[in-house]
Amino acid sequence: MTQTETGRARIEEAIAAGYAAAQATGGGKNADYIPFLASVPPDLLAVAVVTAEGQVFKTGDADYAFAIESISKVFTLALVMEAIGASAVHEKLGADPTGLPFNSVIALELHQGKPLSPLVNAGAIAAASLVAGSDAESCWASILDNQSRFAGRPIALSPEVNSSEQATNFHNRAIAWLLYSAGTCYSDPMRAVDVYTRQCSTLVTTVDLATMGATLASGGVNPVTKERVIAGDHVAPILAEMMMEGLYTSSGDWAFNVGLPAKSGVGGGILAVVPGKLAIAAFAPPLDDAGNSVRGQVAVAKVAEILGYNLF
Ligand code: DON
Repeated sequence: MTQTETGRARIEEAIAAGYAAAQATGGGKNADYIPFLASVPPDLLAVAVVTAEGQVFKTGDADYAFAIESISKVFTLALVMEAIGASAVHEKLGADPTGLPFNSVIALELHQGKPLSPLVNAGAIAAASLVAGSDAESCWASILDNQSRFAGRPIALSPEVNSSEQATNFHNRAIAWLLYSAGTCYSDPMRAVDVYTRQCSTLVTTVDLATMGATLASGGVNPVTKERVIAGDHVAPILAEMMMEGLYTSSGDWAFNVGLPAKSGVGGGILAVVPGKLAIAAFAPPLDDAGNSVRGQVAVAKVAEILGYNLF
């Protein structure tokens, strides 16, 4: 076997082991506060790896399209960082874990309405308010274009997921008004929530997620399309945000056990990045109490362990 073939065989073995470990794990429950998510078949399971050279590995339901949800926060953060720079993002959106649930109002109130992280709802709504555009439609167009460039294919909104979320996002609207009253929402607050809700309602496959992560792993260049999507300098601060708050109240446990920057979504997706090497993504709808995919975490952790990747 050539060195390349050995590398391929190792990754194939790792995703098969990740899939098997996840399949042997039970527990968790689909998110049901967004009605659409409760209806997704809970047994779906997928694992994918995309390398910084653009090789794609997948197993299970890896082409099933599901709602990106909070994983979108990473890519809107990247878009805003391109527009206003890393220091302004740091100053306006923060880079600390909140230690509280992803949609916590208390976290916001404890810090005079300043979101601590762009990866919790408050910070993500503030980030959506910073996307350049004269109205919701132009902001939305650039978010969708950005997600598509990270994924290397046209990403689309699910009208069904979006209607389900727009009809039930009262808590997020309250967060937006709190931000606005503190001067930390930079557009009309209802426009910011509308755009944020749409960005959570796009459909991605596990392979899309791994490709989006691989774009971060390869310094901001999509390794499949070869397009530079973001500045190389912005990758490290984005990964730092993922390390600190990507799995919400489990971020510390994840750092302790797995040691890779990651991000989860209540749709059941999870994405981890190994800088310079590859990205690992998994999808399985049932979530733990923190809002992270139970089997997705097991799968990603197993793949990382087998491939010997832990930043620490
Ligand atoms: O704002 C919300 O509640 C959802 N659209 C996204 C939340 C989410 O994915 C949290 N992640 N685990």
